[in-house]
Amino acid sequence: MQTVRTSEELASALADMAGKTAAFVPTMGALHGGHMALVDEAKRRSDKVVASIFVNPTQFAAGEDFGRYPRKEAEDALLLKEHGCDLLWLPAVDDIYPQNFATTVRVSGVSERWEGEARPGHFDGVATVVARLLLLVRPDMALFGEKDFQQLAVIRRMVADLGIGVEIVGVPTVRDADGLALSSRNAYLSAEERKIAGELNVILKAAIAQARTSGDLRAAEASAIEALWAAGFSHVDYVAIRDAETLDHVATLDRPARILAAAKIGKTRLIDNMAL
Ligand code: PAJ
Repeated sequence: MQTVRTSEELASALADMAGKTAAFVPTMGALHGGHMALVDEAKRRSDKVVASIFVNPTQFAAGEDFGRYPRKEAEDALLLKEHGCDLLWLPAVDDIYPQNFATTVRVSGVSERWEGEARPGHFDGVATVVARLLLLVRPDMALFGEKDFQQLAVIRRMVADLGIGVEIVGVPTVRDADGLALSSRNAYLSAEERKIAGELNVILKAAIAQARTSGDLRAAEASAIEALWAAGFSHVDYVAIRDAETLDHVATLDRPARILAAAKIGKTRLIDNMAL
């Protein structure tokens, strides 16, 4: 695996791959099995796999965990190498946002509710950095996790609207034995909080079962919210059953739907989603 840092080094490493198909996996590091599922899928679908690690300052809302976000460059590089990644790009902030950088990519509609509401500016930061990364790497495809389902929808919209010409591939969520979705932020949880965290997926599954049997989607959302509070979550941001493609409101289950949720345990905010 080759490792590069500057945009010039990246361009020259990419030139060496000319004629091969390239799949790109952008990450913020502190890599786990979820990220590796993206790398494994990238490997299956293309000749070369390019991964990036960049803790993007612009997608952290004011007061969020940018400073304490876990950074594990050496371990991450080892994992990527083991999974057959060909090129690791570790840009500095100046490589992504050079002096006088003045552009923001904003996706309206799909980015405005839930994560966009709870984390002001978050999706502007995500859309801008992903556009920048995609245009610097120019891969044939880029892979993103369904774990961040709204992010995936925002990126699909942006790539289509701007005609970036890259295939966006969504990869199913990888979970721990108790069903908790793997996340770099799970490292913040104490042993007791980790137990509560394991209830999130169980409660979403119960809400899916309730929605299916009763057909009352709003009642199923309300039951899940109540169950999250009862399980010991310190705040419930949202539980929503929506159209799986547009994330628009649905009243009945006559098309593919998705349940999405975010809740906090102490300072740690967890998100999850599942197909109905
Ligand atoms: P990060 O949180 O590091 O996640 C990188 C990629 O891994 C994202 O596409 C995310 O959805 C995926 N991922 C995380 N946990 C997963 C899991 N348990 N199962 C499957 N996939 C999982 O998401 C970001 O970084 C950033 O916003 C980024 C897109 C890199 C832009 O900065």
